[in-house]
Amino acid sequence: MMYYPQELIEEIRMQNDIVDVVSQYVKLMPKGSSHFGLCPFHHEKTPSFSVDRDKQMYYCFGCGAAGNVYSFLMQMENCDFPEAVKRLADRAHITLPEKELSAQAKEEARQKQRLYQLHSSAGRFYYEMLQSPRGEAAREYLKNRQMLPQIQKKFGIGYAPSGRTLLMEHLQAEGYSLREMLDSGLVMPNKDGSGYHDRFYDRLMFPIIDVQGRVIAFGGRVLSKGEPKYLNSPETKIFSKRRQLFGLNFAKNAKRKELILVEGYMDMISIYQAGFHHVAASLGTAFHADHAKLMKKYVQDVILLYDSDEAGTNAALRAIPVLVKNGLRVKVTQVPDGKDPDEFLRHNGAQAFAKLLVDAVHYVSFQISCIQKKYDLNDAEHRVRFTVEAAQALAQIENEIERNVFVGEVARLSGVDTAAISREIEKLRQKEDTDSRPLLHEGRAFAKKEIPYSEKGLLEAQKDILLYCADHKEGYLKMREILTAEDFTDETCRQAFYVLEGLWEKAGVIYPAELTGFFEEIEQQQMIAAIFASAVPKESRADQEKALNEEIKLLKRHRLDKQISKCTSAEELQNLLAQKRRVEQLYITILYG
Ligand code: CTP
Ligand code: MN
Repeated sequence: MMYYPQELIEEIRMQNDIVDVVSQYVKLMPKGSSHFGLCPFHHEKTPSFSVDRDKQMYYCFGCGAAGNVYSFLMQMENCDFPEAVKRLADRAHITLPEKELSAQAKEEARQKQRLYQLHSSAGRFYYEMLQSPRGEAAREYLKNRQMLPQIQKKFGIGYAPSGRTLLMEHLQAEGYSLREMLDSGLVMPNKDGSGYHDRFYDRLMFPIIDVQGRVIAFGGRVLSKGEPKYLNSPETKIFSKRRQLFGLNFAKNAKRKELILVEGYMDMISIYQAGFHHVAASLGTAFHADHAKLMKKYVQDVILLYDSDEAGTNAALRAIPVLVKNGLRVKVTQVPDGKDPDEFLRHNGAQAFAKLLVDAVHYVSFQISCIQKKYDLNDAEHRVRFTVEAAQALAQIENEIERNVFVGEVARLSGVDTAAISREIEKLRQKEDTDSRPLLHEGRAFAKKEIPYSEKGLLEAQKDILLYCADHKEGYLKMREILTAEDFTDETCRQAFYVLEGLWEKAGVIYPAELTGFFEEIEQQQMIAAIFASAVPKESRADQEKALNEEIKLLKRHRLDKQISKCTSAEELQNLLAQKRRVEQLYITILYG
């Protein structure tokens, strides 16, 4: 939520010159009208990170990172928008109004703050216990598992001793109330209703740390046999399992576009210890879309490395669609002979592990081989069933070229020819298309086929229109008459389109950096900034006019076709078709302000 008025946000932005702010992190050299340096967001040897003082924006020609001074801080410090505002206000000696937070929101924030402190205190307690005489057995255990002392320290590994109230007493002495201890989940009521006890005792403790470096929960492992093997903190005000990946706080510093995803605490730590720092663990919970979204902030590629037992394989198969849907590229690899990655590393070493990563296969290949394992391909009937099931998997792939690659793979395995497999997939895709259509009262929808628009084309059109509208006031006003909110498919573009109105009312020129400042999510800021950073000047006014007209038509056509495909009454259809004809005749002459 926006806590502060937009004018203040803009004021703070203007008081923090982007070249100065970036220079605190990156060595910049002036070159032409810009400054260049090595991009802090990806590894590179020659500078492709540019900062423009006039525009107050940055753009990396290598990785596409872009934004204004707020985006930079958010990316650099992994903080959210309000936090970036705070820091930059501080830097410019601007006092932020306090009253913007409601009393309730303030109380919430205070409670969370206390919980963070409590966890950090508990983490220190467990850590000290591990070093104390009580921690002897746990230290021995770690030694047996070959976890090096510097790694234990880095991960803050600790030990919860076997007394039932030791943590409680420690927290009490530090001034935490019973309420706060219960809220943390680290202390809980006794079953018989009399008194309280620590959640964890006689366990090896793994602090769970968020990407901002705060301890927010713990996982505790038994030292010998015992159930459950791992016990975790419950969900609390500061810990949500499905938004947390163990080790991501370290992995993100590896600044790689790829992440190895494993199941367990020990797997993550062993892989890290072996020198592969781009690794995180999903902690045995079902992989959730929020996990994927979190990963997407830092990487594009994922190597799934779940245990190779049946549970691990099934968990991987379930995680794949979640990752793919959220735009991550997924490969899969497994440790041979049912070992887990931690055991594999201990027995086979880092080099063999590196090979395992290289051998990761495209997720579809993995799916196919999982299906294959269920059948005996020497048997004709099994071959048929295998092919049908594989076709079902392939039908989920959106990209046709990608689909065809794997049609080949299935054909090779089954001996069925590619054309037959493709036909089967086509059938499944059409069926899916109709199945996912809402049931209609007045009969079937008119159009059956999927609308042939590319997401990318639509997005580019919206970006181009925005770019033009931020440059030409008269043109923008004209666009406002022609385009409606429904013509936009992208939420950020839609919002930006309407934000422009206020900006044009206020001034005769629009600064991309200011427009960017209207968005709080880094993804949105990136997108807006990138529109302006990567703009290619049009050859001529006539070219620009032609392009814009095509783009407007594309958006309108898309919107109308979508409505037509859902439309169920003949009258409505007539109306939509008439609108479509009008769109085809539409032509606007653009003005230059
Ligand atoms: N897990 C859990 N609760 C359990 C069992 C497992 O939360 N009762 C989670 C833990 O995060 C664990 C992961 O699932 O790290 C994988 O479980 P498992 O494969 O059973 O454990 P390992 O990682 O192999 O643990 P270890 O090597 O310590 O035996
Ligand atoms: Mn293990």
